[in-house]
Amino acid sequence: MIRFENVTKRYPNQSHPALDGIDLNIDRGEFVFIVGASGSGKSTLVRLTIREEVVSSGRLLVGGHDLRKMPQRKVPQLRRQVGTIFQDFRLLPNKTVQQNVAYALQVIGRPRRAIRALVPETLELVGLAGMEKRMPHELSGGEQQRVAIARAVVNKPPVLLADEPTGNLDPATSLDIVQLLRRIHDSGTTIVMATHDNVIVDEMRKRVVELEDGVIIRDEEGGSYVPKAVDSRDRDEREADRAHDDHDDDHDDGALAPQEDRPIGEVHALDDWDDDAEDLLR
Ligand SMILES: Nc1ncnc2c1ncn2[C@@H]1O[C@H](COP(=O)(O)OP(=O)(O)O)[C@@H](O)[C@H]1O
Ligand SMILES: [Mg+2]
Repeated sequence: MIRFENVTKRYPNQSHPALDGIDLNIDRGEFVFIVGASGSGKSTLVRLTIREEVVSSGRLLVGGHDLRKMPQRKVPQLRRQVGTIFQDFRLLPNKTVQQNVAYALQVIGRPRRAIRALVPETLELVGLAGMEKRMPHELSGGEQQRVAIARAVVNKPPVLLADEPTGNLDPATSLDIVQLLRRIHDSGTTIVMATHDNVIVDEMRKRVVELEDGVIIRDEEGGSYVPKAVDSRDRDEREADRAHDDHDDDHDDGALAPQEDRPIGEVHALDDWDDDAEDLLR
């Protein structure tokens, strides 16, 4: 679904490439963490995938489309297939919660009837029922990120990219948000999340791709934030450390257990995306 083939990205006037010879394949339905120190290239990887930046060399395919060759006028269609959320939420400050979510559908020309159905359903699913009329500044950080998630998934994109989505949130709220992402993933959405948050990565035990200076140094299924080979301390010691770090004592290991079985909503927008690439470019 997303394939980097020897991708290098150089920004103008930078001596080192931000990404250097990246080979990475992400299949439909995966949940992948992109980890690495600040400056290692995580955001660049995200920006390339939505064509906010263009690769310098190599090939980047999303849903079968070579993004370097994609004409600018097709980029909005790409971005309908790839929902995005960021550390700083990026809500429209003068619109209510429901207007923020509805706006995502209005700009792509969805009919009013569809908007009236999809917005409340999505707000309910992200846990914001009852807050429809609030303004962003009347919400906590976690609630604002839920609005951003609702906006990103309201059109049921097959892929959700998250760039440090918990970077501005306290540990307990971060776990809530990632639990929500897990539910979205359970409904079939492919999720790629760039993060620094070792607690979350260790709890989730998903695929971990680690960048260092623009190069992939690890790609591990069911990985932890710190690779096993490097973190030689035994598991109990690490757990004790983690418990100590966590400010919220109420959070035990069950914090990430699925709350309920109900899927968050089926992904149906262009489910045949890979197989029927024409759909994207229609
Ligand atoms: N717009 C830009 N112009 C020039 N250099 C950039 C730009 N964005 C990022 N970089 C550089 O590219 C490298 C990777 O940055 P980034 O992708 O933001 O990493 P991360 O998200 O892991 O912190 C860094 O050296 C950074 O300084
Ligand atoms: Mg970044």
